[in-house]
Amino acid sequence: MQAKGAYPSFTSRLAFIIAAAGSAVGLGNVWGFTYVAGQNGGGGFVLIYLLALAFVAGPAFMAEMLIGRMGKASPPTALAKLQASTGSRLRWPSVGWIGLIGTLMVLSFYAVIAGQAMYYGLIALEGGFGGWSESAVTKLDADFKANPWAMALWSAAFMAFTAAIVSFDIRTGIERAGKVMMPLLFIMLIGLVAYSGHTGDMGAAVNFLFGFHEINFSSRLFLEAVGQAFFTLGVGVGGLMTYGSYMGDDVRLPRATFWIVAMDLFVALAAGLAIFPLVFASGVEPTAGPGLVFLTLPIIFAEVPGGAFVAFIFFLLLTFAAVTSSISLLSPTVQRLAEARVSRPVAACLMAGAAVMLSLLTVYSFAGGRGVYPLAAFGLNGMTAFDLIREGVSNFILPLSGLAYCLIIGWALKREVVRAALPMAEGRLFTLWYGVVRFIAPLAITALFIGAVVG
Ligand code: PFF
Repeated sequence: MQAKGAYPSFTSRLAFIIAAAGSAVGLGNVWGFTYVAGQNGGGGFVLIYLLALAFVAGPAFMAEMLIGRMGKASPPTALAKLQASTGSRLRWPSVGWIGLIGTLMVLSFYAVIAGQAMYYGLIALEGGFGGWSESAVTKLDADFKANPWAMALWSAAFMAFTAAIVSFDIRTGIERAGKVMMPLLFIMLIGLVAYSGHTGDMGAAVNFLFGFHEINFSSRLFLEAVGQAFFTLGVGVGGLMTYGSYMGDDVRLPRATFWIVAMDLFVALAAGLAIFPLVFASGVEPTAGPGLVFLTLPIIFAEVPGGAFVAFIFFLLLTFAAVTSSISLLSPTVQRLAEARVSRPVAACLMAGAAVMLSLLTVYSFAGGRGVYPLAAFGLNGMTAFDLIREGVSNFILPLSGLAYCLIIGWALKREVVRAALPMAEGRLFTLWYGVVRFIAPLAITALFIGAVVG
């Protein structure tokens, strides 16, 4: 327990790294990466994604955590403090507020997908999937999606779980959840890769993920790769800024950033190596899209030895990955409400409730509203409310907020101030990161948006 009234903090450097890695490692790594890579031609996409991680999203990730540590408050308040220190007349807190809206947008679809993962985990626990026919699996998915109540209920269950953890103080809630779930997640993932290597076609998976195939370079492909890099690290909505505000000044940020990005990358690639060998061995298409995890994979689980157990482990892993991220998504709004003297449990329930309400849009997109395109009149035909929310947040809010963080650190704050906030960073490393945050990342993001508008 911490002294009452003190600003919350993690107990150690490691606790911070685990929590931040928990935020980064999420549905994006397993559900997102595999299907986005699968749909975009494998190796070439992975390469662009790696460059985006190293030169755009990674440096912005460190900038976001640093802003949190310097401001020691929720995102809008931390940004207001930094703004006041410079005398700038721009409204920095609005970036924080947009981020808070972004957290609810992410949670709204996160909850639905994680809810389905929990439901499938339960079915697997009861011995489901093992020996099922393909039509039984297809029917399960179709029935679930045809039943908005079931989807909404599972989303609410997932959000209740998230809110329960966030209700506690930082050390007993978020910190402990990460310390329990993250090691288990790694063990399960490594076990699954070993299983897939044994049972599936690892050669084809490696070739698919790392080999170069025909790739259609387009501004949209770049936008997807950069959007995925931001989403997977969780940069741009203030979750990391909030965790950053809870970290001690003894955390060596460049090193912590390196380890978190490395863990995140490891999980994405390992998830690919757990999933694709099975996909290739059973001869189904790797380009199934969002349905890969809930349709293609369960069909495969039905056929492989020990399928029910493998399915249970897989969906438990997905649920853990989702929870350690969703707690970081709920944290910024809860911290902001705490500043307004709302207690953590009440704030967590309120914001989880708001996320569940918003999740009904995704529920609707998966159920009755599959063919409903709300913004068709504005040239966004073919996009459901879910598509608009997902792409809107990961391809726009995240990179644009990331751009704002880079401009704040690289241009608005004085170099000496930023240097002093990173006392333990090695000189050359600092210069490199500072240069990237000042020039390369902002230019890359701007070019990307100009490309998207023109192309
Ligand atoms: N990084 C998470 C994932 O890959 O699923 C998603 C995420 C978490 C986005 C936290 C934003 C955030 F603040």
